[in-house]
Amino acid sequence: IIGVVYLLHSWGVFATSFKEANNDTLEVKQQPLPIPPLLEDKNPDSNKAEFEITAQEGSMEFFDGTITKTRGYNGDFLGPVIRVRTGEEVSVKVKNELDESTTLHWHGLEVDGENDGGPHNEIKPGETWYPEFTIEQPAATLWYHPHQMHKTGKQVYEGMAGLFIIEDEVSDSLNIPKDYGVNDVPLVIQDRRFDKEGQFDYELGMKDSIVGFEGDTILVNGAVNPYLEVPQGMVRLRILNGSNGRIYNLEFSNKQAFYQIASDGGFLEESVKMNELTLGPGERAEILVDFSNLAKNETVELLDQGINFMSFVVSKDSDKEFIVPEKLTTIEKIEESKATTTRVFNFQGTGSSVSINGEQMDMDRIDEEVKLGATEIWEVGNFTGQTHPFHAHGAQFQILERDGNPPPANESGWKDTFLVAPGENVRVIATFKHKGIFMYHCHILEHEDAGMMGQFSVE
Ligand code: C2O
Ligand code: CU
Ligand code: CU
Repeated sequence: IIGVVYLLHSWGVFATSFKEANNDTLEVKQQPLPIPPLLEDKNPDSNKAEFEITAQEGSMEFFDGTITKTRGYNGDFLGPVIRVRTGEEVSVKVKNELDESTTLHWHGLEVDGENDGGPHNEIKPGETWYPEFTIEQPAATLWYHPHQMHKTGKQVYEGMAGLFIIEDEVSDSLNIPKDYGVNDVPLVIQDRRFDKEGQFDYELGMKDSIVGFEGDTILVNGAVNPYLEVPQGMVRLRILNGSNGRIYNLEFSNKQAFYQIASDGGFLEESVKMNELTLGPGERAEILVDFSNLAKNETVELLDQGINFMSFVVSKDSDKEFIVPEKLTTIEKIEESKATTTRVFNFQGTGSSVSINGEQMDMDRIDEEVKLGATEIWEVGNFTGQTHPFHAHGAQFQILERDGNPPPANESGWKDTFLVAPGENVRVIATFKHKGIFMYHCHILEHEDAGMMGQFSVE
């Protein structure tokens, strides 16, 4: 496999700005997909877990011979995968070795506000934060990232993000691929822009501050244009859109179908056959892809809007046979009649005036007060010209309706982040079981940092 000049001259709309801003000589050989390591659990008790995470400076050779300054957790770029089980009592030491404050937020995790890692849980340089929580939700692929006020976009961009995987009896019992890094593979998809020196370019241009950052180079698990050797059989991909602002439309180059088995907060009730997957910033999907009809050494590419950014090479026999399970789990439907309150959240404004309900984030203002244990309907509207991903902390949601229609099958499970198109109205429902102060915001990180965020208290 030969080196490609990683210039997306064919990348339509992005090609021009890339050429202006960039160096034509950044090159990279195709390399194996890096698999983030599983973080060691230091507590021998099987019902307890103890982890240590350090936010630190780093450097990466994304392009041959060019060293890019980065940041990561316990390493140079991104972070290890934290894997826990439902029911486990977890304690974490989060050390900040950066030269600026950060926080560490567990995106999708249902925990009290003081352990959530939002903007109020600041960790100053040299300090350590000690969150503790019990895992009270089903198997899921969640993630963690900084949430420092006004700095989330920059810190995530520099490399601070990792996956947080929950397993439970349901995930144990399903006959699906579970061999981490072999047939159960995480894909953290992020876009970046490099300057002439090959450094991350996070100088936001006019377009970036209006629509959110869009890069010209896609990284998967921190690698440009990687390949993954896969067995000639079923493979499970845990996909995170860890990008600041880009929405992906993923499909395979051979147009083969795949099956979505999980959304943000866990397994769907039934597998959903799909040809294309749309994933907004912050969203996750687990999919099963069957490579058994491909010949050995055959390559299939993963495309975003027609552009290839990683390949799968069928290289070995599958040591196990899988069929796509029809039934995955049971999700108890939250009845609308249980809801005691309906709240409205409207995305408004553009550029530096982005807001929710006309208000920009103020650390000292609580926008909404929710009763502990209450079930509520939230209606999210969009009065802007672009799609925004709505995300809230502290709970997992069920989508009731998109513009009055039931959600598509792959959005009928647990969601903590969902796209809202211009003019669209998305009605969701949740029960708020954890107390504290939580954020709701647009997960386009440039919008979040500009103030498209608010706070709710649960008491
Ligand atoms: Cu993924 Cu409030 O964040
Ligand atoms: Cu979150
Ligand atoms: Cu937004």
